[in-house]
Order: sequence, then structure tokens, then C-alpha cells
Amino acid sequence: MSAKEFHSLQVAEVVAETDEARSIRFAVPPDLESVFRFRAGQHLTLRADIGGQDVRRNYSLCVAPDDGALMVTVKQIAGGAFSNWVARELKAGDRLDVMPPHGSFTIDFDPSRAARYVAFAGGSGITPIMSLIRTALKTEPRSRFTLFYGNRDASSVIFLEQLAGLKDRYLGRFDLYHFLSEEEGDVDLLNGMLDRETCEQAIEAFVDSPAEVDAWFVCGPGPMMDAAEAAMLDRGVAPDRIHIERFTAGRPSAALAAEMAQLQQQASGLQMSVTIDGRTRKVAFDGTNILDSARASGLPAPFACKAGVCATCRARVTAGEVSMAARYGLTDEEIDAGYVLTCQSVPKGDGVAVDYDA
Ligand code: FES
Repeated sequence: MSAKEFHSLQVAEVVAETDEARSIRFAVPPDLESVFRFRAGQHLTLRADIGGQDVRRNYSLCVAPDDGALMVTVKQIAGGAFSNWVARELKAGDRLDVMPPHGSFTIDFDPSRAARYVAFAGGSGITPIMSLIRTALKTEPRSRFTLFYGNRDASSVIFLEQLAGLKDRYLGRFDLYHFLSEEEGDVDLLNGMLDRETCEQAIEAFVDSPAEVDAWFVCGPGPMMDAAEAAMLDRGVAPDRIHIERFTAGRPSAALAAEMAQLQQQASGLQMSVTIDGRTRKVAFDGTNILDSARASGLPAPFACKAGVCATCRARVTAGEVSMAARYGLTDEEIDAGYVLTCQSVPKGDGVAVDYDA
């Protein structure tokens, strides 16, 4: 059975977190418990038939692995086919196709460690960070976590009460700072967006030795993530301690788009070999990308975003070389180990081999 195969799971509960956000808890039958075991910070790919279309989206898990629940949070976005369908129609008892957990926005937690963690979250970017906070505080009794969390106003803060509850429960180990862009509070620094200046000031004011923080986590809108990353690097944080989870890809530059279009054209007709579910097949590159070429030839290559973000389409290159347009969904270690995002990849010559099982 492929680790990237969809399973039909029953929805046990739909929880309204705010006016715009719903959490979906799935019932996992005993025979699938090991398949749906996850690491803090990972996500699920959900699939539904909406108006006759196969719609797939990735949503982060909001719970800790030993919370005994499989639960993701979905924020409604304007024009979003899946998120609006969830808000409008999904209810307890329905079934959804769910792919086993994946993603690399995570670290190894160790109960013997006394670590220092800091996170920047914006809007629904809190979801995977909530999973990491719960896990760190629960499994590492001597570790501390600081969260900088940006939102529009108090009513749009997802997990407002749960976060306050964690602060009470883990007194002195969890520091929480809400930054609101459309609501004024008493502390000037906390009024406004998490832009570059505010991120820098937040680090200065609330993180004693930035270079000694063991891991930094960032998830939210693109500009906020860029601002937080620049502020951290500027404060001497080592890049390998910064973990960033992107939900969407930026638009590629015109130069990159033109270069990829040329490579796609040149590669048309090249022969590749594709391994999936233990079987290897010859596939001709069809001028799009490796993922679509494999699917066009009937192979069940997995995907969700097709934008280089989610890594659902990850495979290992075992022969030849490929060019990759976007690579947000991969860590440096994965790239060094030969992994590519097949939705973003084009073969550089004949004889490229990719393995989805590796
Ligand atoms: S399908 Fe999401 S990165 Fe390729």
C-alpha cells in the first residue's frame, strides 16, 4: 500500500474556531491508526468532489501526536473552493478522502532536553505551530516556547482560548504575544502587523539570546514570513535553526517562467522511467512537468497543490538530472538526498529515473 494513497475517513466533528475557521476531527479506525500516526507540524492532503471537480488541499494538523486525535484546521478564504465547501456543507458523519500525514515542518522532540523555541505565526499559520507548541510543552518539561502571533483583531484569532489555557497550564514556560493590526491595545509594540520592524523589536524585547534559540518556526502570509526571516538572520540566527512552512507559493519571476517554458519545450518527448507502488514504467515527458507526464500515462502519482509548496508530489531522482522551478516544500537535506518536487520538475536529458516510493 502506498504511503500517499487516499483513505476514506469519517468526520467525527466539525468545530467552529472563529467565524472563518473550522477544525475537522476525523475518526480513525483501528486498522489505520499506524497509517495516520504523525509528527508535530505535519499536514494532511484532503480530497473531495466539489461540483464534479477533484479538489485537493493540504491542511495542517493542529494537535499533538499523543493528543489522541487527528484534526486539521481550515480557514475560509475568498473564492476558495475547498474552504468554502467545508464551511457550507461539511458535517459530522460525512466522509472525506484523506492522505496519510506528511511534511517536514517539524523537529525531533526529546524529553531530556531543555530547549528554547520561538515562533512567528500569522492568521491560520498558527495551525502547525499549535501542534508544535503543544508537543514541545508536553514532551519536554524543561523547554520554553515563545509565540508571536499576528491577526486582524481579537475575533479573528484562531485558538484564542486554547492558547490562553496553555499559558496558564505551562506557567513560565509559554510566553504569548498577540499582535493585532486593526485593534488598539495598551502596548504600542503589539499594535500593528508583524512587519520587519515589529519582528525585530519583538525579538529584541522578548528573546534574550536569539543565537541560542534551538529552533525558530514561521508560518503565515508570505510578507510576514519574509519579514520574520530577515529579522532573525539580522539578529545572528543560524539559517539551519529557522523552519518555515509556506501554504502558498509566490508568483515565479518572468525570467524563471520563461526559462522553464524553454526547458519544457526542449524536454518534450524525452523518455523517463517512473517508479510508483513498486512498479516501474517508461513515460514520455509531455512538455508539462514530470508529475503531469506520469499521470497522463496512467500512473497514480500523488499531488495536491501543484505549486511547489506541499511536497505531496515528492520523488527521488535515481538517474539523470532535472531542473526544478519552485522548491518551497523541500528542505536542504531532502534536496541533497536527491528529492525533487515532480510538479515543478523537467528532465534535463533522456534516461531520467524518478522513484515515488523512495
Ligand atoms: S503537488 Fe504540492 S509541491 Fe507538488
